[in-house]
Formats: sequence, structure tokens, C-alpha cells
Amino acid sequence: MATMTENQIHGLSESFTREEYNSQEIFNDEMQKIYGTNWCFAGLCESLNKIGDRLVVDIGSESILILRNRDGELRAFYNVCQHRGSNLCDASGSGFGAAITCPYHSWSYSLEGALVATPLHEKDSIDRETLHLKSVQVDQWQGCIFVSLDPNTKPLLEWLDEHYSRPRELEKFEMSSLVNAGTTVDEVSANWKVLAENYSECLHCAVVHPELVDLVPVYKTGKTIQDDRKDWGVSLADGKTSLSHKQNESLALLPSMEDLDEYSVFGAFVYPNMLVDISPTVAVLTRYVPRSPTHTTIFTDYLFPKSVVDDKSLDLEPTISFSDMVNQQDIAVCERVQRGVASRSFIRAYHTKMERYCHQLILRYRSEIN
Ligand code: FES
Ligand SMILES: [Fe+2]
Repeated sequence: MATMTENQIHGLSESFTREEYNSQEIFNDEMQKIYGTNWCFAGLCESLNKIGDRLVVDIGSESILILRNRDGELRAFYNVCQHRGSNLCDASGSGFGAAITCPYHSWSYSLEGALVATPLHEKDSIDRETLHLKSVQVDQWQGCIFVSLDPNTKPLLEWLDEHYSRPRELEKFEMSSLVNAGTTVDEVSANWKVLAENYSECLHCAVVHPELVDLVPVYKTGKTIQDDRKDWGVSLADGKTSLSHKQNESLALLPSMEDLDEYSVFGAFVYPNMLVDISPTVAVLTRYVPRSPTHTTIFTDYLFPKSVVDDKSLDLEPTISFSDMVNQQDIAVCERVQRGVASRSFIRAYHTKMERYCHQLILRYRSEIN
């Protein structure tokens, strides 16, 4: 249990310090102790459809190579050649075939990570067995790939069950049945924790997101959940049917949306690097990739039912651009915060009781980083 501080008694609890938002040393520690131990969202299963398809992602301070093997299973390795350490693959994509060939001396590995070719050397002149790629834990949930650099990590579902945001309650929306209609990439001048705190509260919503709160009136009150609903859903305003610039579109609803009494939105922060935002017609998945204490890359995927993506007569732009508009509004305030927390006058941030999910973030962070 966290001890109650004086500031909590007076309605405030302590958030991160200036150093925690800016220090390279603390950032390095986070990459080891948080990104190096938790399961991290790494991408979509649909991007690895065929044997040999590759996903190259940064997890913490490591480059990781994720593949689909000959049995259709996911495999993940440190993206490091065992000869003299060159990074193996630069790009994600298809069409590379079933061998991983190092661009330095052309040594090749199988999709299982075994060293299978060493040009200019007799086959038996090298003990290839000892030079297997170093593997990494990989699993999938709801069509999403997760990687853990901790070989002793707990199973993914058990780990998901420990999140205060209850991401597994979103399984009813069957995200693995959805298809990605596009990905946006934002380079953001803010610490990943500034972004995570911002996502975890809605005190800013009425000020920063006027279009969003028109569609989701509860957000005007600063609350992220609706007191009279037990399913953690939040109802759209009367007559509103989606989070989109255009209402009453002919887009199919996500699975299970029909079963709800009202058009609704749901969300979960899957600590440390994933946001899941479900609304009537689209599931938006966000992935943070921390680059430095003051820089984070944000990847955002927009998932719709397959029938919607396949129907080229449907216009998804009003839905995607609405979500992107909200994202850009958040990015602007987070960059503003990052500039402020770099000031020598700034000591630490605080949370009020209405920012209770931010406080949950702090508790988890402190349990892992100290
Ligand atoms: S470093 Fe990869 S083949 Fe030499
Ligand atoms: Fe926001």
C-alpha cells in the first residue's frame, strides 16, 4: 500500500518530478525496468500474414524482429546478428522470403532463428549451433502482437488481468475480426508519461476537445466513466451515432455494439504503451514508442469491420480525421506541458482526486521503478 502523503490529505497527490520528465538517466532506467519487463504492444497480427513477413519494432532500448514461421506462429528475436552484432533487418514488410540475411557478411538465419548459412566458410568450419538468434517472448491478444523482453514474464492474459483499466472487458468488441484502414505516425516532443497522464484524465476535455465533448457530454464534467453504467461505457449525446465529423453514416457497427442500449465509447490504457479506444464504428489503437525523455513516436491504427474496409464506396475519412483531430489536440497540450516541466522553476506535478487514473499510473510506475 502506498503511504498517504501530506499532499494527498489536502486533495492533491504527487505526480512525476521535473527530473522524471527530463532525465536521460531516468529514461534509461524506465526502458530497462518498465519497457524491459512488461508486455509491450508491438503491432497488429494482420501485418504478418505470410511466412517470412517481418515486423521491426523498438521495444524500450532494443530493436526487435517479429516474424511468422512456417507453422503460422509468431516468433520474435533481438534484431542482432550473432556474428559481429550488426542489426539484421531495417524494414517491416513482406516479400523477404524465408531467410533472414545479415547485410554485413550475409550470414543467414532461418525463421526459427537458427544460423543456416555462412558464405565463404565450409559448412562444418563453424559451430553454427552456438550462434542462434536470441529469442524474445511474443504473444497475441485481440489481433494485437505483444512482446516481452523478460524471459520469466507472466502469461499475457494474466498480465492483462492486472490492469486497473480492465482491457479484457473490451474483448466483446472482437478486435481481431477488424481490419486496419490506415496508420498515422506522429513525432511528439513529449515524455511518454506526459502522454499517458493526459490520456488518463478528462479534466482537460472540455477545454481541449470541444468537438469531442459535444458528442460525449459526460466528458464535459471531467469524468472518464459514467457513474450510472457498470460496463465502463460512456454514452454519446442524444441523436449522435459515432465519433465522426459525419453522423448517421452507413458504416457497420463493431461487434456487440448492437447489444448496447445506447451508442457508446469505451477506452483502456494498457500500461505502459497502448491505448484502446472503442466507439460505435471504429476501434482506434495507439502505440507509444519512447525515443528519449522528451520525444515519443505515436503510431495510431484505425480498425473497422472487414465489410466496411472492403466496401470502397464507404468514406472512412470523416471518422479517421475526427480521431486524428482529437489526437492532435492532445499532442499540442502535451508538447506544451513538456516545455513547462523543463523549466528550472518546476519541481513536480500533482493530481487531484478527479485524476485518479493518473494516480494509478503513478502507483504502478513507482512499484516498478524504485
Ligand atoms: S555481422 Fe552479421 S554476418 Fe557479420
Ligand atoms: Fe485528450
